[in-house]
Amino acid sequence: MVFRINKPWDKDFPYFERPKAIGYYSIDSTRSICFDSSQLTYYYPPKNNEVSFDLNHGIECVRRKTSTTKHDKIDTFLKWIMNNFDKIRAHPDSNRWLQPHIVCFRGLLSRIMKTPYDEREGWIICAAKWKGTIYLMAFDTEADTFELNNRTEKDLQFSSWGFKFEQYILSDEPNKPPDTSKPVDEKEEFCCVFQSRLRERKLLYAAEMDGVYSDKLLTDPLPIENLKFIELKTSRIVDNERQFSNLKKFKFIRWWSQSFLVGIENILCGFRDDKGIVRNLKNYRVADLPRISERFWSASTTMNFCDDFLKYVEKTVINDCNKTIYKFERIPHSHIIVTEVSPTSEYAFLPEWFIKSFNK
Ligand code: A3P
Ligand code: MG
Repeated sequence: MVFRINKPWDKDFPYFERPKAIGYYSIDSTRSICFDSSQLTYYYPPKNNEVSFDLNHGIECVRRKTSTTKHDKIDTFLKWIMNNFDKIRAHPDSNRWLQPHIVCFRGLLSRIMKTPYDEREGWIICAAKWKGTIYLMAFDTEADTFELNNRTEKDLQFSSWGFKFEQYILSDEPNKPPDTSKPVDEKEEFCCVFQSRLRERKLLYAAEMDGVYSDKLLTDPLPIENLKFIELKTSRIVDNERQFSNLKKFKFIRWWSQSFLVGIENILCGFRDDKGIVRNLKNYRVADLPRISERFWSASTTMNFCDDFLKYVEKTVINDCNKTIYKFERIPHSHIIVTEVSPTSEYAFLPEWFIKSFNK
């Protein structure tokens, strides 16, 4: 079966409910879940937009994520679901256990959204249905695995720069200058869980959040629904019109979709030179990005595509995951093909403890 990526999607923006944070969790440096805000960090606004942040400072001591991170990432979210079952339980009269029709990560939705603009990038998304809800998870394609296995020191350095930038801007206490002397631990995360609706379809997704705006120390339980977060990004200093076009075409679409999906209004970008020194900071209003980038992409196309693709997933995924796992593969420069794979294949991702706990 094939899902073709060639319809006009630039129609009216589909109904998308304002995302509501309904919970949160932290992941510590051993990648264990903590049902608390231990990894929450506070935005510490720099006094000046002209800065000199060395993103290589202490890089030799950085603690990076490992390749097993993907599976424990979904496991932690599933643990949150089990622990918060009462918040998302479906009405007893419905034929589902959970309210959401779709459960996934924010990054997966953002990836789907930019598909119509991403001819070259392939992806694999697998779907597992259980008790009426469809769980989606991204897997590495062959090209992803090749890229991952052939990363150079330089690639690793680039990917650590973004985390180091976060350390210059975020603090573990409000109004306290960030401590940039300690090693960056890329394994630690603070995640929020959001509920939203795309047309009639209820969504539940988790997302890593960068920093919260707060002058006061926040304690558990957090007033999560009322908190405001900032998204931090780095990018190469823009020297000419062509580079600015690339920023709008390739990065702003990602920045916008990521932030829009979690209701973030502001992005702070640190513009760095080739040596990894951030020279200046610029604030972007998320709501302005589609207009700034209108020559390259449209927000309604991304969301209409997402809606159409999820509709197709819902139509296709019939069997429960103990019978069939559905693999959706976007082939570069081509369409999305669907294959049914065995529940014992490498693409099965709902752990046994999760499936069993729903049998109670
Ligand atoms: P930048 O986005 O500033 O480059 P996010 O902003 O999405 O929370 O990600 C934080 C940082 O993680 C990124 O900062 C980057 O350093 C690193 N990162 C995220 N996704 C990555 C990827 N696919 N490859 C390499 N590094 C990545
Ligand atoms: Mg960020």
